Parts: sequence; C-alpha cells; structure tokens
Amino acid sequence: MILCQTCKYIKDRRSDKMFLIYLRKYKIMILFSVFFFYIGCGITLSFLRMDCADALSKTSKASLLSIPNVEYAVLITSAPVNEKKRDAIRATWGKFATNIFLENGEVLYKWNHSQATYQTQHEQIKFYFCIGTEGLTDNEMQKLIDENKRSTDLLLLENLKDSYQNLTKKILLTMKWFSQKVKGLKYVIKCDDDSFVRVDLIIRELEAFAPEMSSVEINKYVTHKRPLNKYQGLYWGYFNGKARVYLKGKWEEKDWFLCDNYLPYALGGGYVISSSIVQYIGNNAEFLRCYNSEDVSMGVWTAALDGINRVHDVRFDTEWKSRGCTKDMLVRHKQTPSDMFLMYKTLVETHGEQLCKTENTVRRSYYYNWNVLPSSCCK
Ligand SMILES: *[C@@H]1O[C@H](CO)[C@@H](O)[C@H](O)[C@H]1NC(C)=O
Ligand SMILES: *[C@@H]1O[C@H](CO)[C@@H](O)[C@H](O)[C@H]1NC(C)=O
Repeated sequence: MILCQTCKYIKDRRSDKMFLIYLRKYKIMILFSVFFFYIGCGITLSFLRMDCADALSKTSKASLLSIPNVEYAVLITSAPVNEKKRDAIRATWGKFATNIFLENGEVLYKWNHSQATYQTQHEQIKFYFCIGTEGLTDNEMQKLIDENKRSTDLLLLENLKDSYQNLTKKILLTMKWFSQKVKGLKYVIKCDDDSFVRVDLIIRELEAFAPEMSSVEINKYVTHKRPLNKYQGLYWGYFNGKARVYLKGKWEEKDWFLCDNYLPYALGGGYVISSSIVQYIGNNAEFLRCYNSEDVSMGVWTAALDGINRVHDVRFDTEWKSRGCTKDMLVRHKQTPSDMFLMYKTLVETHGEQLCKTENTVRRSYYYNWNVLPSSCCK
C-alpha cells in the first residue's frame, strides 16, 4: 500500500514538472486558447440560459393559463377500460357539436350532418371524458395516453382511483378543475358514457332560452317554480323529489341523515348546470360532503343556493332504465354502443328529424310539480 502511494506521488510530481515546461513553451498559445474557450462558453451559456428561461416561463404560463373559448363543457364520466364506449360516442353524438356554428359572432344552429362528416374540433364546445388514473399499471396508463393523443378529450385525474364509490369525488374534482381552468365557461352538460345526448339541441336551447328556460317552443316539456326576475344559475334535467333512500346495494347511502327521502335532484344520466354552480362547487370542494350517488350529491350541494332555476324537462330520459324512445328526447340513458350507432344512423338518414326507427313508450314520464311538497312532486 505505502509503496504504491509513493509511486503515485512521484509520478504526479513528474507530470507537474512537464506541465510547467509546456506552459512556458506554449504560453501565448495557451493563453489565447483559454481566452477563446471562455468567450465560447460565455456565448453558449447565455443562449442556453435564454432557452431555459423561455421554456420555464412557457410551461408555468401554460399551466396557469385558462382554457379559452370553451363555453360548453360536456362532462362524460367514464372508466379506464371503456375505450369502446368512448369511441362510440366520438363516432355518433359527439359529432353533433358541428351542428352549432358561429357566424358574425352569433351562435347558430343548423342540421349539417352526413355520415361522411369529419369530426371538426369545436372551440366553444369541448368534450371531457373524466377518468381517475390512480393505481393504474404502466400499461393501462400508456393506453390512455395513446388514446388521448388521437382524441384529445380525456380528463385524467391522477389523484383519484377510478371506482363507482369514487364517482361523486370524480365529479367534485372535475368541477374544481373546470372552475379553475375554463374561464369562459357557461354551462356543463354532465352525462355517462352510456348516455346518448343531443348535445346540439341542448346547446341550441341554452343559447336561446337559458337561464329562464321558458318559451312557447319548450313550455310543453318543462316545469319550474314561479319565475324570478333574475336567475343566478340553472339546474336542468329530469328531477325527482321523493326518491327513497337506498340503504343497501349499489346505490347504498351509509351516511345519509338529512331526511327520509333524497333532496330533489336531477337524475344522473344527463343534466345541465350553469357555471355559477360549477364555480360554487369548485370553490367549496374541500367542504362538500360526498354521498354515494353523484346526482343525489348534486341535489344536496345546490339545495342551499338562492336564485337557481331548477327546470324539470320530460325530454331527459335519464333514469336507471330508458322510458322508451321519442323523437324530441334530448338524452337517452342506458344505451349500448350499438344502440348509439343505430340512433345516429336514423338521425342522419332523417336529417335530424327522427331518433328511432319506431317510437315507443315503456314507461310514462311525469311533470314535476314544484308547488307542492316533494313527496307529491312526481305523479
Ligand atoms: C357544414 O359541415 C361542413 C363539413 O362537413 C363544413 O365544411 C361547413 O362549414 C358546415 N357548414 C356550416 C354552416 O357550419
Ligand atoms: C377513492 O379514491 C381514493 C384516492 O384515489 C383512493 O385512495 C380510494 O381507495 C378510492 N376508494 C375506492 C372505494 O375506490
């Protein structure tokens, strides 16, 4: 050991000496090289720094920046494995967004659809398939990332494990995200990935009649409580005010204590809320209690709000099982991808006039009576 160390020491000393000789011999050349080396470094570094600073400011800006122009967000709750269902929506009713178009700053509607229509990305209308990604395998995650590369419509919530029990939390997190990111938002259309939604007609009516939702064209479909001079929000769907509380099964509410029935709420297969409600929920997300069912929770969260126009509409077929098919329906729940393709085909062939080849009524709808106590609301 000692020997070796000595060896090394001697070698080093020798190279030091040689270095000194070199230095003397090529003094001027070395000085020049060092000088130019530093100039070179200086120039490179300043460029690098500019690049970095630029990139940094860009990313921080991008994450702070709101998403402009989106006025209508279509929130579709979905699960990681439901790619087929998402594709069915993209290939059918998702395309109806193109029936809404902008002319001279005015939002207009025209049935403008043939099966060959390419999917145009609409600026005002954006689809968000909401999926929790916590606990997914790398492979599952990669599949979602690839899907999003082609579709750009996934809202991946990384702090949420996707499960039915977490559905309400998913809505809450999404509301928070919307309230922080989508600044020009007007309305959120919430539905499931087994809902068929006439997103074009819903937006047309919102543009024309919201928030009052009262007009000769639609009065035969809707009921609401006495009109106010000024509304602070809209909650539009198919309401129930006397639903019994589930104490077991999939819809079990373990922690429910508010009253014997649920508070009036719009059924979860599809409903519309105004951005004022989104903002309220987003701002209070940490404070709001999540019940098992997301639609029941929405009823509770909005129950305390003043000036909200709650509009019951028989064209929302949003119960646990479809009530049948009529051409004026705005939403049909519990539809398979092949149901969706069929309805889409019928609509295209009839230029938007007919939703189903043959109309049928399995169950009758009710008009919500807002002027009596909820237990007598729905007959
Ligand atoms: C109708 O759709 C086509 C694409 O299929 C598009 O080029 C055209 O601009 C649309 N018309 C209107 C009025 O939006
Ligand atoms: C709900 O999500 C949270 C956060 O991702 C997770 O810890 C929890 O296990 C989930 N609950 C269920 C029942 O999946």
